[in-house]
Amino acid sequence: MFKFASKPQSAALAFMVAGSVWFVVGAVYGFMSAIHLVAPEFLPHVGALVFGRERPVHVNTMLYGFVGPMLVGSGLYYLPALLRTRLWSEPLAWAAFFFWNLTVLSGPVGFAFGITQGREYNEYVWLADVSLVIAVVCLIVNSALTIANRQEDQIYVSIWYFMATFLWTASNYPLGNVMWHPATGAMPGLIDSIFLWFWGHNLPGLLITPLATGAAYFVIPRVARTPLNSHTLSLLGFWLLIALYSHIGGHHVLQSPIPNWLKTVSVVDSIAMVLPVSIVVINLWMTARNFGRRIWGDPAARLVMGGVVWYIVTCIQGPLQSLPFLQRVTHFNNWTVGHAHIAMLGFGGYIALGAMWHIVPLITGRELYSKKLVSLQFGLVTFGLTGFFLVLTAAGLVQGTAWHNGETVLRVLPQLVPFMASRAALGVFIFTASLVGLYNLLMSLRRGEEQEGAQLQRAEDAA
Ligand code: HEM
Ligand code: HEM
Repeated sequence: MFKFASKPQSAALAFMVAGSVWFVVGAVYGFMSAIHLVAPEFLPHVGALVFGRERPVHVNTMLYGFVGPMLVGSGLYYLPALLRTRLWSEPLAWAAFFFWNLTVLSGPVGFAFGITQGREYNEYVWLADVSLVIAVVCLIVNSALTIANRQEDQIYVSIWYFMATFLWTASNYPLGNVMWHPATGAMPGLIDSIFLWFWGHNLPGLLITPLATGAAYFVIPRVARTPLNSHTLSLLGFWLLIALYSHIGGHHVLQSPIPNWLKTVSVVDSIAMVLPVSIVVINLWMTARNFGRRIWGDPAARLVMGGVVWYIVTCIQGPLQSLPFLQRVTHFNNWTVGHAHIAMLGFGGYIALGAMWHIVPLITGRELYSKKLVSLQFGLVTFGLTGFFLVLTAAGLVQGTAWHNGETVLRVLPQLVPFMASRAALGVFIFTASLVGLYNLLMSLRRGEEQEGAQLQRAEDAA
């Protein structure tokens, strides 16, 4: 009955298709919430479509639905390919797919009707948490046994990142989501913000970042047709990421009375994050430096390299805004929303999309339906996101400096209207990009032309 679930690499494809679908759903909700920030009276009588409900659906669907699964899908392809073996169990990967997407689905279905734990990035209710943890455990078992059955001695850095992501998530997610308190998923008082931001930080830091880094390390050398510049350097970056990223969630709550030692550790190690980030960027750059044409000429690799460029911008901004004296102006306003978009869409989303476009032909053995549509998607997202970044950063500075000078939140709001209206307009480009991507993917699965030598490549990869 479930024959499709044993077809090699079918779960990888399923994760990528789901990611593309959730991208569209998340963009609809992002667009709706952007409209509500300009026109709060829009659709006034639909309880499920008010800003406070749309926003968590948007954020969770984008992170857990679009970026995460698309990257998991690419990992489920490159894990066995790099180890020159088969995935240990395709049905187990499908089980992960099922449980993961059940959690994501509980967003639009639950949050929209007020079924939420109401803690940012930790909104899923307990049963949805359990479902995600089951998915993660399935991925751990599958990856570990695939590694155990490998034909290749060397464990390439992408595999380190892929495997480690799930080990970290299996421990960090239950902790930050306070899963031992099923009813509330929360701790009492201020301590809750520390738990909340432990996961709120490790979701980008130890789920999205390692998956995206692993995928970039896979695609760039492959498209450049050259080995990675330095394996040793890549592993140094890996270990530094764990050493530094895991415990700096305190930088999200610097403006609250959490213990001073925690603030200090968060700030110091946020600055030190420059090290692992530079290592990844330099290593990829050194790998690609003589092959610029191959990278920028390939629409999939262009998205991945674009993601690396956004990573640089994100991680220059990140340490700066961890400085308490700067954060006094930038906290609680649109500056951070700008950072969140270049981080999650710019870094995570670009690499997820690029890796997907690179890998889909390797799985199907067919050319993409249209490389031009991939370039179009790149153009639309780049225009929309660059606009988002500029508009939101400017809006944040207007808010932050006004508050700093004693102005009230209410009196600054009218000044934000042009920024919020521009953001909603720019959202149309990103929404269109999500539709273009889904269309191109579905058409590629149905109608893409058989590639020359593709069967051979697949056989080699799967052997
Ligand atoms: C060098 C690395 C980075 C540092 C030091 C850093 C630092 C920060 C700080 C201090 C904030 C809180 C700002 C505030 O509330 O005032 C923040 C917010 C955020 N960061 Fe980063 N960041 C880094 C990289 C990243 C990356 C790579 C991602 C995504 C993969 C990311 C995703 C986010 C998100 C989504 C938020 C918004 C959280 C919220 O809703 O308040 N960051 N970052
Ligand atoms: C159609 C395009 C999009 C629009 C119109 C849009 C709009 C919005 C709006 C209005 C918010 C709430 C901001 C606030 O509370 O003031 C938001 C938050 C957020 N969005 Fe988007 N968004 C879009 C695409 C994306 C994508 C593609 C991603 C990730 C891949 C993403 C990730 C986030 C995150 C992480 C936040 C939380 C930011 C924070 O709390 O600091 N968005 N978005």
